[in-house]
Amino acid sequence: MATKKQMMLNAFDMTSSMHNSHGFWKHPDSKRHRGYKDLEYWIQYAKLLEKGKFDAVFFADVLGVYDTFRQSKEPSIHDGMQFPLNDGALVIPAMAAVTKHLSFAFTVSTTYEPPFGNARRFSTLDHLTNGRIAWNVVTSYLPNAARNFGLEGLIKHDQRYEIADEYMDVTYKLWESSWEENAVIEDSKAGILLDSSKIHEINHKGAFFSVEGPHLSEPSPQRTPVIYQAGVSEKGRAFAAKHAECIFVGGPTPERIRYYVDDIKSKAMEYGRNPEHIKVISFLNIIVGKTTEEAEEKFVEYNRLWSADAAKAQFGGASGYDVAEYTEEQQDDDFTFKETDHGHYKAASLTKDAEKQLKVREAIARLEKLDRGQYIVGNPEQVADGIQKQFEQSGVDGFNVNHLVTPGDLEDFIELVVPILQERGLYKKEYRDGTLREKLFDHRSCLLPDDHPGSRYRKSVSAKV
Ligand SMILES: Cc1cc2nc3c(=O)[nH]c(=O)nc-3n(C[C@H](O)[C@H](O)[C@H](O)COP(=O)(O)O)c2cc1C
Repeated sequence: MATKKQMMLNAFDMTSSMHNSHGFWKHPDSKRHRGYKDLEYWIQYAKLLEKGKFDAVFFADVLGVYDTFRQSKEPSIHDGMQFPLNDGALVIPAMAAVTKHLSFAFTVSTTYEPPFGNARRFSTLDHLTNGRIAWNVVTSYLPNAARNFGLEGLIKHDQRYEIADEYMDVTYKLWESSWEENAVIEDSKAGILLDSSKIHEINHKGAFFSVEGPHLSEPSPQRTPVIYQAGVSEKGRAFAAKHAECIFVGGPTPERIRYYVDDIKSKAMEYGRNPEHIKVISFLNIIVGKTTEEAEEKFVEYNRLWSADAAKAQFGGASGYDVAEYTEEQQDDDFTFKETDHGHYKAASLTKDAEKQLKVREAIARLEKLDRGQYIVGNPEQVADGIQKQFEQSGVDGFNVNHLVTPGDLEDFIELVVPILQERGLYKKEYRDGTLREKLFDHRSCLLPDDHPGSRYRKSVSAKV
């Protein structure tokens, strides 16, 4: 009998006071808006996730304040929406030190930080975690971030992906070709630690970057960390199909997510890639109680805490739509998709990806409350049923789990729902050994597989695939 496909689970988070739980700092059990700056908070968090056999923490990141809604930073600052925000890379080694299997996907934008330093950062993290690192490659969407890095405004949406493409070439060269295997010889008789004939400059000169090399770090367990990507525009999907091993797609319905899954996998095949070497994950929003009534009460209570302004601020920054600009007369107009230089996925979810054509007032209403259609609410069995349905209908390989009251909602999920998913054979009971790449993929190589474009930069490195 064929074994059942098992889902990956990541905790979706940010080293910020608030992430997607708009207004939930007001909940008496919220520990995150104080804890996010304490190492002990993240240490306990890592232990909790490993207890729940989570594959990874997925750390989102942005490099500025959301300031599109009302053309102001105030609404996001007011509720601590993704602000203040610390550098998540710095908590990862501490979390890795108290876990053995939990992995870490960390978001870095290719638009602002140059590739040379970023490659060293990920090699360092891959060494310190013993191969439990992924890089979530994004191109960013906040105008304030652009101005923080010396630009006047956002670089055009599609051009950001062209920059990202070259950025990847530079980093593959650093990770895959700069150091040959066995460059560290440690020959004490000859007095040679490193064989310089096996360490190479990369001498990259392209349209956007110029990097001499060599890479400052020696090869780490995975060399190239597992490549994640998040972004569902045309350009984003083409980029994902070429480079990504795990793809985080946003979409409001299982049907739309399935469309993205199928589209990305067929585009990947056009690049000569085996679709089995790509995992696609989507959001998972759940509210679980010991009984249906308890879960429904939680939903009502959570709705009271929800900050509509913070949600509108997030939507504004991510999409480029300022929903405060719609006049009373425009409320019954169709809410339509328009291309902006911000990201496309948030706008798509309320326009062309929505289950029906929404009016302006309906789209705005979805930001003003917890959107029930996006939540699985119920007792543990009901929630497990909902997750199973979403998993099977959408064709994804797993989920980024959102949580509103942190860490309480994750604790409940792990205690109440995870055992049911395990009993149903939908979720692992034990971790696989090895690096993140070996844990995730049946090719079981710690290195990029041979069909990945990064592997063609390899010199004498032998992949096990
Ligand atoms: C599910 C999802 C999560 C994302 N998370 C982030 C993030 O944490 N930080 C960020 O700068 N961009 C994030 N992005 C957007 C990327 O920056 C993306 O490269 C850019 O906005 C363009 O997205 P698009 O291809 O959908 O237009 C995310 C996108 C999606 C679909």
